[in-house]
Amino acid sequence: MEVRIAAEHLSFHYTDEENKAASPEILKDLSLTLEPGTFAAVLGHNGCGKSTLAKHMNGILLPTGGKMWVAGMDTADETKLYEIRQRVGMVFQNPDNQIVATIVEEDAAFGPENLGLPPEEIRRRVDDALKAVGMYDYRMHAPSQLSGGQKQRVAIAGIIAMRPSCIVLDEPTAMLDPKGRREVMKTIRLLNRNYGITIVLITHYMEEAAQADRVIVMDEGNILLDDTPEEVFSHVEQMKQIGLDVPQVTELVYELRQAGIPLDSHIITEDACVQALLEQLGS
Ligand SMILES: Nc1ncnc2c1ncn2[C@@H]1O[C@H](COP(=O)(O)OP(=O)(O)OP(=O)(O)O)[C@@H](O)[C@H]1O
Ligand SMILES: [Mg+2]
Repeated sequence: MEVRIAAEHLSFHYTDEENKAASPEILKDLSLTLEPGTFAAVLGHNGCGKSTLAKHMNGILLPTGGKMWVAGMDTADETKLYEIRQRVGMVFQNPDNQIVATIVEEDAAFGPENLGLPPEEIRRRVDDALKAVGMYDYRMHAPSQLSGGQKQRVAIAGIIAMRPSCIVLDEPTAMLDPKGRREVMKTIRLLNRNYGITIVLITHYMEEAAQADRVIVMDEGNILLDDTPEEVFSHVEQMKQIGLDVPQVTELVYELRQAGIPLDSHIITEDACVQALLEQLGS
């Protein structure tokens, strides 16, 4: 099922339940379209509204102005909420908060069980999901014995077992060590390439964003840059101005260019950097 996600002049402010006071506007007239199969990374400094935007994508939060569309459904339409949540899964930072069962495969089965699917369908989905994230061999293990990266992959399996078209991941690697981070990124890329699942990855790691097809840079509740990673990261000074970094390789190329070495500013991978430097040395 093809799912397009579209924010249309989306605005949002929180409301304090106790004194009914409205927070300042967190999202400001933000428009964005994500085509099915996209792998988009969302960057932005702390508090710019990334998580707030993510929570609009499956109706956890509803716009206070404008619209959020998921597969042509208005997230503000309560009758559609169940379907929207099935299509758009969310993965959060802390895997421990997302794991509910004491055995891996039971955890992955939790979502499909709630959908009321027949047992054989649940079995099939759980097996497929655990294989997709590379955790099938651990299906009878206790989640508490797993590493952070493994736990996060089990959490992702629980989402995949619901067969969503899109997964929104809010800093899924923030609490992981480098190995766990690599495992989770590999899983995310595979889900996008092999299963065509739309990915929205919120991250503070520039190297992770560099792996996406599209990088969306947020600032103060709106979108500042939205382009390929090569193009976005070539704006080194603009990124630094809003408190963001660029991948280390891009930084190196930037410094070398400042020193007068004529390199392409659109380099974001180590391989491309090595190649460009070798060409310089050879010339
Ligand atoms: N429940 C809430 N009530 C009031 N204000 C909130 C609430 N949740 C978040 N905010 C405020 O909304 C703004 C945006 O928060 P949000 O969590 O979306 O930012 P973020 O870009 O995800 O930041 P981070 O990188 O730290 O995760 C912040 O100023 C934050 O303090
Ligand atoms: Mg956040």
